[in-house]
Amino acid sequence: MPAETITITDNRTGKTYELSIQDETIRALDLRKIRAHDEDFGLMTYDPGYTNTTSCKSRITFIDGDKGILNYRGYPIEQLAESSSYLETAYLLRSGELPTAAQLGEWTKSIVSQSAVPSFIEGLIESFPVGSHPMGMLISVLGALSTANSDSKHVYDVDVRTKHIHKLIAQVATISAYAYRRQSGLPLVSPDANLSFSGNVLKMMFGKTGERYRVNPVLEKALDVLFILHADHEQNCSTSTMRMVGSSEADPYVSTAAAAAALYGPLHGGANEAVLKMLKEIGTKSHIPEYIQRVKAGEVKLMGFGHRVYKNYDPRARIIKHTAYQVFETMGTNPMLDMAIELERIALEDEYFVKRKLYPNVDFYSGMIYQAMGFPVEMFTVLFGLARTSGWLAQWEELVTDDDQKIGRPRQIFLGSPERKYLPISER
Ligand code: SDX
Repeated sequence: MPAETITITDNRTGKTYELSIQDETIRALDLRKIRAHDEDFGLMTYDPGYTNTTSCKSRITFIDGDKGILNYRGYPIEQLAESSSYLETAYLLRSGELPTAAQLGEWTKSIVSQSAVPSFIEGLIESFPVGSHPMGMLISVLGALSTANSDSKHVYDVDVRTKHIHKLIAQVATISAYAYRRQSGLPLVSPDANLSFSGNVLKMMFGKTGERYRVNPVLEKALDVLFILHADHEQNCSTSTMRMVGSSEADPYVSTAAAAAALYGPLHGGANEAVLKMLKEIGTKSHIPEYIQRVKAGEVKLMGFGHRVYKNYDPRARIIKHTAYQVFETMGTNPMLDMAIELERIALEDEYFVKRKLYPNVDFYSGMIYQAMGFPVEMFTVLFGLARTSGWLAQWEELVTDDDQKIGRPRQIFLGSPERKYLPISER
């Protein structure tokens, strides 16, 4: 059996080095012994965007980008979307195992019963001008929640982590709903512990104060499936941000606020909002070829297409497309759906996209469902963040309990000015 090592020859010195290979990786720190001169710092890697760098060892989510496979704790996303619920999936992501009925009952009761936010949070949300983007409100309020949960700083205490993981999963839903209500200039609608997690989200978003809200089971199920699909996705930009901030022993509230900020970008979770804006800009099917030309000229991107890991169809996009039809049967179709399907058809036949292995990702169809449910485009990323909170927290807890981990602090290639003498302003 060949040794699990790699031998590197430094052609500057003729020296050879044997580095061990573990889990198909080499430890970057082992490269530091490769020096041209004794006083050198030693070799490092240069990897903008971390395209080929592992930051951690994780047991939570597995993705095979070439085969379009996504598993949470070994369970295929297709099976979870079909048979599980969002809260059961959130339990699985954290604990590593599917819960028994008793465990699920306890977990659900603990979370849904903590949906109410401190009264000052309601005041904070109502202090934003009507029409404010709900992502800005979500990010601000998640950080503010930290001030009401100062014990959450004890990140190495499992009971403290459990308490605040439950609270965050519950209250990010309430804050998301309140942000929508404030953006729309509507009064806040309190949570109802008698409803399911997703039913409660719909009630807080679309209910009327003082009135009983009748949950539409088709929308409740569709929203729950969307939350399952968005719950985790290994070391994406926002999850890596959660881990980076968490690596400084910051509390889970401010870490989640930072992760939500990373998600907001149009290259990441903001893409679902950008897809609808793109479809609106294209306007009609007849304008699709012209837009595709602009994409190929590098003027614009085809939002909702492409992925750092998936070089095949994103399995979540396939499930979302199926779910869309169920929602449209209830709520009426989204006129943009036909255009999206035509855009996908054209792109998947075009050499530019085929060569670059650009397929629809999770964001391509999700916005159309949300829009058909009655959510404004600004809420799409908020709903993504609401669901991803359970994944961010599972990844954060894995980081906090991983003895291999330490505070994140990458290095740089310095190309700036060599040392020089300060000049008084009269001499400049
Ligand atoms: C999410 O990481 C995750 O797991 C994220 C996520 C999750 O669940 O957390 O899956 C959620 O963020 C999904 C992605 C949502 N973003 C978008 O839909 C925005 C549009 N997509 C692109 O910006 C892009 O595809 C990224 C950002 C998603 C991935 O970019 P990469 O991996 O850095 O790839 P790249 O930019 O190096 O592109 C490689 C080539 C380039 O062309 P060439 O320079 O080789 O000629 O493909 C082209 C790019 O120009 N390309 C696109 C394109 N995406 C890549 N060209 C047009 N439209 C696009 N969408």
